Amino acid sequence: MASIPSFSTAMILVLATILLFVSPACSANKEGANHHTEAHNGFRLSLKHVDSGKNLSRFERLQHAMKRGRQRVKRFSAMVLAEKSDSKVKSPVHAGNGEFLMDLSIGTPPKPYTAIMDTGSDLIWTQCKPCKDCFDQSTPVFDPTTSSSFANVSCTDKLCKALPRSRCSDGCEYLYTYGDSSLTQGFMATETFTFDKVSVPSIGFGCGLDNEGSGFSQGAGLVGLGRGPLSLVSQLKEPKFSYCLTSISDTITSTLLMGSLASVNSTDGAIITTPLIKNPSHPSFYYLTLQGITVGATLLPIEKSTFALSDDGSGGLIIDSGTTITYLEESGFDIVKKEFISQVKLPVADSSTTGLELCFNLPSDTSSITVPSLIFHFDGADLQLPGENYMVVDSSMGVLCLAMGSSNGMSIFGNIQQQNMLVLHDLEKEKLSFIPTKCSQM
Ligand SMILES: *[C@@H]1O[C@H](CO)[C@@H](O)[C@H](O)[C@H]1NC(C)=O
Ligand SMILES: *[C@@H]1O[C@H](CO)[C@@H](O)[C@H](O)[C@H]1NC(C)=O
Ligand SMILES: *[C@@H]1O[C@H](CO)[C@@H](O)[C@H](O)[C@H]1NC(C)=O
Repeated sequence: MASIPSFSTAMILVLATILLFVSPACSANKEGANHHTEAHNGFRLSLKHVDSGKNLSRFERLQHAMKRGRQRVKRFSAMVLAEKSDSKVKSPVHAGNGEFLMDLSIGTPPKPYTAIMDTGSDLIWTQCKPCKDCFDQSTPVFDPTTSSSFANVSCTDKLCKALPRSRCSDGCEYLYTYGDSSLTQGFMATETFTFDKVSVPSIGFGCGLDNEGSGFSQGAGLVGLGRGPLSLVSQLKEPKFSYCLTSISDTITSTLLMGSLASVNSTDGAIITTPLIKNPSHPSFYYLTLQGITVGATLLPIEKSTFALSDDGSGGLIIDSGTTITYLEESGFDIVKKEFISQVKLPVADSSTTGLELCFNLPSDTSSITVPSLIFHFDGADLQLPGENYMVVDSSMGVLCLAMGSSNGMSIFGNIQQQNMLVLHDLEKEKLSFIPTKCSQM
């Protein structure tokens, strides 16, 4: 690994010089993570990054992920704007896709498959026989007639009523759309799902007969982890989950903890917690209240309203695992960018080929570089990020870049910024917690 000129190698040099970053990467969650008893509604899964099988340099990995991320941001913005311009025609759309894959099994006997994990939508679905329009998948398409635990959902069932679009004819038929004309269509059913040897009966899911969209082919369906009633997390007895994402330059898998296993039991001061805010216009999304940003010693003069949710459902900031870098509402991002330019003592580089909005030229001696600290002030939670969660180096291009960008309509706290933190979503308490954790050692 050391032979590749990589941003993480260079990052270590950068970080070594900055005492500011001696933030505890401690394993605060030992007890929580090892709490294996009472596991019937709690389980642990490995998350594979969608590019993990590809031969990519680390910076390429970031660039591929950002390309998908921009697509996702476009969808998010389109959703918000569509809602703004026409409040009568409610066309519910959801994020779809994601950056991480999980293995699970469906039915009795269990049939394994791989699904995309999506924290920006709710529905769990997989392709089902008899397909009308299915994409190629690496495992056999699920055949309900071969499973003894399969059951149809009736139209009066609350799972059917929770669907944004359903039709009652031969059972509960659904149509679930994602922001870029991707969709899944079929009928609602319940099944036993098995996650790492833990079987959970009667989980509602979409048996998809017609599944269209270019982004789905990495798995045989999707597992929604959004806030709505149809998501996997909402259907568990203990509606909470946490994930711990390894560094994008890491080949080690990330971890997802569901239900009781996600509980955090730590009394040390490393946990910081902020309320989860609801947006009736986008009930799947996890909104946080971002009150301000500090760069170095400067609390930035960003207008309070910049990251606030508007009455029309636009604005606000969501935390998302399927978007790579953080996107801030443009007027806020411009102030962050200006401050980095003024505090980083390096010439600004032409960043057009990197896909990022702010890069600096690296000097030949990287040992002398310092980058300012960065704090996100969430409501009740000041989150200081480790340097590698916002500065990335590409030694071959000789640049040091800020892993953030600008957006319009809403802001998104991306997965690069969440690296090496246990991120706990508690739907019951309506709280989100960050715990610094070495995710590769979980
Ligand atoms: C991966 O890519 C590098 C550089 O492009 C190449 O030298 C190497 O042989 C590739 N490895 C594999 C396993 O394809
Ligand atoms: C479930 O519903 C579908 C679609 O209406 C139907 O084709 C299928 O036979 C039903 N299966 C069972 C086990 O009732
Ligand atoms: C947390 O730790 C305390 C003391 O060790 C223990 O009594 C309690 O049951 C634990 N709670 C959870 C949720 O693990």
